[in-house]
Amino acid sequence: MATWDCQTQHIVLVGMMGAGKSSVGRLLAERLGRSLYDSDEMIEAREGRTVREIWATDGEAHFRELETQALTDGVTSDEPSVIAAAGGVVLSETNRRILRESDAHVVWLLAGVDLLLGRVQNGMHRPLLDDDPEGTLRQMFETREPLYREVADAIVSVEHRSVHEVAGAVLRCCA
Ligand code: S3P
Repeated sequence: MATWDCQTQHIVLVGMMGAGKSSVGRLLAERLGRSLYDSDEMIEAREGRTVREIWATDGEAHFRELETQALTDGVTSDEPSVIAAAGGVVLSETNRRILRESDAHVVWLLAGVDLLLGRVQNGMHRPLLDDDPEGTLRQMFETREPLYREVADAIVSVEHRSVHEVAGAVLRCCA
């Protein structure tokens, strides 16, 4: 697993819905004394609307543009920060290029679909899972797995680990 320079580099958490990006990100930001850029939270705060409302009114394509903006803000921030990227961030070639080219260490929080399914019950900001969450997640995992792998500097399994243990595993890659 690649190490990261935790004095200077941003850390970006990527992974499927329910992998724990927001909770692990919050903990890492606290432990490292860094700002947290949480994609969905930033988008909702900026727009003054929920993810679901944005999705319903303006559609997915517009939501994806807001995701790119949130990612860009995180990776161009002056101080090294913790970025909890949106689950769908890897879908866009532009975002994958931003991830590759920025001074960031990208960690894929890896969870199997069975674990994810148990965690995505509160689907308020997850309109994609309104119908057939299991089938959708399985399909999504298949499509996105190679994309997460493409951008990841490190892969951390979240299976059988608490949020604290996952954060600890991320911090152990620190050079
Ligand atoms: C999405 C993930 C969600 C949210 C939106 C779309 C996705 O965020 O941005 O519902 O396409 O994977 P989380 O990854 O925080 O659940």
